[in-house]
Amino acid sequence: MQDADAQHSFAHKPGGLILGIESSCDETAAAVVRGGSEVLSNVVASQMEMHALYGGVVPELASREHLRNVVPVVREALRQAGIRGQELDAVAVTSGPGLAGALLVGISFAKAYAFGLGKPLIAVNHLEGHIHAVLMQRDSESASQQVSESAGSILALVVSGGHTHLYLAQQQSGAWSYRNVGRTVDDAAGEAYDKVAKLLGLGYPGGPWIDRLSAHGNATAVPFRFIEINRGTADEPSFDFSFSGIKTGMLRYVEAHGMKPTIEARRAALAQIDNPTLDDVLPLLDGPTLDLIASFQHAVVGNLIRQTMSAATHFDAREIVISGGVAANRELRARFAAVATERGLSVHFPAAALSTDNAAMIAAAAWPLLRLGNFADAALNAEPRLRLG
Ligand code: KG4
Ligand code: ZN
Repeated sequence: MQDADAQHSFAHKPGGLILGIESSCDETAAAVVRGGSEVLSNVVASQMEMHALYGGVVPELASREHLRNVVPVVREALRQAGIRGQELDAVAVTSGPGLAGALLVGISFAKAYAFGLGKPLIAVNHLEGHIHAVLMQRDSESASQQVSESAGSILALVVSGGHTHLYLAQQQSGAWSYRNVGRTVDDAAGEAYDKVAKLLGLGYPGGPWIDRLSAHGNATAVPFRFIEINRGTADEPSFDFSFSGIKTGMLRYVEAHGMKPTIEARRAALAQIDNPTLDDVLPLLDGPTLDLIASFQHAVVGNLIRQTMSAATHFDAREIVISGGVAANRELRARFAAVATERGLSVHFPAAALSTDNAAMIAAAAWPLLRLGNFADAALNAEPRLRLG
């Protein structure tokens, strides 16, 4: 996919206006980013409310919504950025991982649009996008608008509804490379949040609910323990995660403590309320349930921190970046920041708008690829199982 001529022509370009397009799951998003970190627009059309009716993402409905949304979302992103398509330097699109039909909508549009404008097309790995959501913020906070080459490895935790991965990220001669040093062996952390919220009769997505409700319970009331996961070998150490155990633990606890009837009553009460607020939900929860929720979150966050810090020590990473939907979690942010300070490490999180799926992160990840002339061709296809590193 390298294009030597393009590499020559773009290598000296100081700015670089990139339109990013993201449609891998349930958000249709488009954004214009200049030079990898200056966000001129970041538009997201969420399908969350529609999928909430089904308690999760329905792939066929997602593709149909992306088809309806992609043109207006791109148009709005260009309008908010105050630019015309002809002024773009490239069009970047998520090529995977994600839902095949959903990815194809973004890819087909991006191909046609880039071709029509005569601009290069750049394929971006969604997971690399999540990492760049944080890097772009770090870079825009620093005075320089250039992507700075870090002295050592950066440890990246990508933690969302579909993924829980640890990567060692490094930039050399402008190109980023990644090594996957940890992954979930079963559910993603966000998936565990969503399933546990559903089990307790709370709304979808469950992460934000559990985040808010945890502050009202005693986090040490129920001691959950995580099983020791395979740590790999001395040559190939692995810092893996598993969240199916705690999910089963929650189910057993609910059954053993006869919580089912109150859960069903809560589910029925919430079904009557459009867009419930915390004030609607709190009276529907008794003390023991709030304690259970707080204990679940405390255990999950503790596990994410333990594995990440073990990996940081092992690989001597001085900088940690955390991204993906679960990175919005307040307890996760506070405890990570405290542990990192204690150990003299720096830790970065994306702003709220950049932690869940968005297209600014796709345009940001495309910037180093534009500078290197690493372009996709007309054969670009969706790669639902695309890996990083
Ligand atoms: O990155 P994202 O928008 O989509 C995926 O690529 O999965 O992440 C969505 C996930 C959901 O599982 C949601 O419950 C979780 O992120 N999430 C949270 C919070 N906000 C979103 N989990 C815990 N605490 C939050 N505040
Ligand atoms: Zn994502």
